[in-house]
Amino acid sequence: MTTSEATASEATAPDAGTPDVEQLQRHFDATIERDQRIEPRDWMPEGYRKTLVRQIAQHAHSEIIGMQPEGNWLTRAPSLRRKAILLAKVQDEAGHGLYLYSATETLGADRADLTGKLISSRQKYSSIFNYPTLNFADIGVIGWLVDGAAIVNQVPLCRSSYGPYARAMIRICKEESFHQRQGYELLMTMMRGTDEQQRMVQDATDRWWWPSLMMFGPPDGDSPNTQQSMAWGIKRHTNDELRQKFIDMTVPQADALGVSLPDAGLAWNDERGHYDFSEPDWTEFKRVLAGSGPCNAQRLERRRAAHEDGQWVRDAAAAHAAKQAERQTGAAA
Ligand SMILES: [Fe+2]
Ligand SMILES: [Fe+2]
Repeated sequence: MTTSEATASEATAPDAGTPDVEQLQRHFDATIERDQRIEPRDWMPEGYRKTLVRQIAQHAHSEIIGMQPEGNWLTRAPSLRRKAILLAKVQDEAGHGLYLYSATETLGADRADLTGKLISSRQKYSSIFNYPTLNFADIGVIGWLVDGAAIVNQVPLCRSSYGPYARAMIRICKEESFHQRQGYELLMTMMRGTDEQQRMVQDATDRWWWPSLMMFGPPDGDSPNTQQSMAWGIKRHTNDELRQKFIDMTVPQADALGVSLPDAGLAWNDERGHYDFSEPDWTEFKRVLAGSGPCNAQRLERRRAAHEDGQWVRDAAAAHAAKQAERQTGAAA
């Protein structure tokens, strides 16, 4: 075979030689089209990789920052049982953060770099965690509404086109389901209690309802990345579709609990087959996201301090790894 013949056959064989970008793009598009997974070693467009790193990092940061509002009540839980449940939940959230940082590493991101971006406010986390937890009813309402909204957001991500993210979400969703139930069970218990306990549940519901609806992100018309993310199979439903699903699911739960939801416009619409609801205050959402929520400064300050306090652990791990490597080189010589 002559050199020119070899070149010609390589150009037509799909896996011989170095395929050009167009060929790789076609292969990527076909994989998405067939609803199969993209894996870390596969070629992917740079925009796809960057979008995933940004989304997964933001998700990981939310899990880690989300430990703070609930961690606040660990030492003041009303019973040993409630303390054990809350401790298990907060630990789960740490685990979720770690899986997700690992998923970003399969895309070439560096965990230390992502943490640096979080604590210097160059990357965001969910706006919901910038609201304060004022009493133990908030723990129940967070489980019910915040973890409930997280489930609606995250179940479709189990079918995300990026393999490591989709697989991480399967386990995360199972744990989120426990979080939602423990919250609802706590609220059920409080609603069977004194008038004061019932008032606490209603007050916490009133405070967390709107921020929970904001967890689905801005309205579709104001969410420029949604379409591309859906075309890539990263996202499966729009923000407004997910918000509606959450509301339809939650209204009967509020009825069963015996609390009212703080929206006079909330009503069943027979024609649409969904609940109608009022528009959340998007100005507040933007303000909180931009850093001016009630607890933004405190959350970041705590995260920064925890990172600095952990410096000795990272130093010790690095020294240990260096010693191991040295020993291995010594043994090989
Ligand atoms: Fe979580
Ligand atoms: Fe959770």
